[in-house]
Amino acid sequence: SASKKVAVLGAAGGIGQPLSMLLKLSPAIGELACYDIVGTPGVAADLSHIPTRARVSGCLPAAGAWPPRGNEGLGEALTGADVVVIPAGVPRKPGMTRDDLFNTNAGIVKTLIQGVAEFCPEAVIAIISNPVNSTVPIAAEILKQKGVYNPRKLCGVTTFDVIRANTFAAAHMGVDPASVDVTVIGGHAGITILPLYSQLEGFAPSDAEREAITVRTQFGGDEVVQAKAGSGSATLSMAYAGYLFTEKVLQGLNGEKVTQCAYVQSDLTDCKYFASPCEFGPNGVEKVLGYGTLSAYEQAWFDKMIPDLQKQIKKGEDFVNA
Ligand code: APR
Repeated sequence: SASKKVAVLGAAGGIGQPLSMLLKLSPAIGELACYDIVGTPGVAADLSHIPTRARVSGCLPAAGAWPPRGNEGLGEALTGADVVVIPAGVPRKPGMTRDDLFNTNAGIVKTLIQGVAEFCPEAVIAIISNPVNSTVPIAAEILKQKGVYNPRKLCGVTTFDVIRANTFAAAHMGVDPASVDVTVIGGHAGITILPLYSQLEGFAPSDAEREAITVRTQFGGDEVVQAKAGSGSATLSMAYAGYLFTEKVLQGLNGEKVTQCAYVQSDLTDCKYFASPCEFGPNGVEKVLGYGTLSAYEQAWFDKMIPDLQKQIKKGEDFVNA
């Protein structure tokens, strides 16, 4: 049906709140379930005053939620969900890499994915919790243990990298960012992020400019971490990216053929999970598409990226299996 249920896990957080707000505005959503370990009754009550069709519920792990609920908050949030978006976790502080977050966020993702396996094994899962390069493999291993892994339904959200690439390239070219669509491949951290600016028509940077814009795309998150001076990492722009990603997934579920970059199980490279353009449809990821030809400059980054991404994938798998 055109009226989907979306669950946001970590909905009271810096990303979760604006993400839930944007999803509340989506005409494709009939039900929005906000789950967190704190605060979702307030988020849901607040959002429920926005007059759009999505019904909003605030779910907590224990009693005391608004409207009052039992101990089955996660089950209630997930049951019947078509898409589960997961921004739960701890954010980065200055000096921390996405990897430093590993142990805390790995445990959170593990718990939440166990819930998905139990309550909505058919849902498309969109993971935002960092380090995405490792949390997606963690989710896959948990889903495999539960016998419900479907590679077409599990994605890491890399839309933010595409958004940054579009913003930076458009500024450089002096054009409307909405007219730019950069393909970004690889993973979602540092040098595993590879924007393919050579494929962008009309973009002709000097060597130095190309280097600067590539590195800025890879490490743009650090600019926000520094500017926020200890209070966290990107939230508003990440929420926007998560919203755009979810909208396209919903369009696909509703029968449209849409293409967007996502970090998914992939045969394109020696990395078991890899972000590339994917076609989305009624079953989630219908096709993992290729990413065209790399320039020599991009190939050099690619060769550096592969072993790094492989390591981060293995780290996720080992967290579950070791
Ligand atoms: N279940 C549900 N929600 C949880 C859990 C859990 N087990 N553990 C933590 N949370 C919630 C927190 O209560 C909080 O509301 O996740 C939310 C995280 O919000 P913030 O601390 O504000 O962090 P945010 O900036 O939103 O980043 C969250 O996204 O981009 C990544 O690196 C970032 O991994 C981090 C995540």
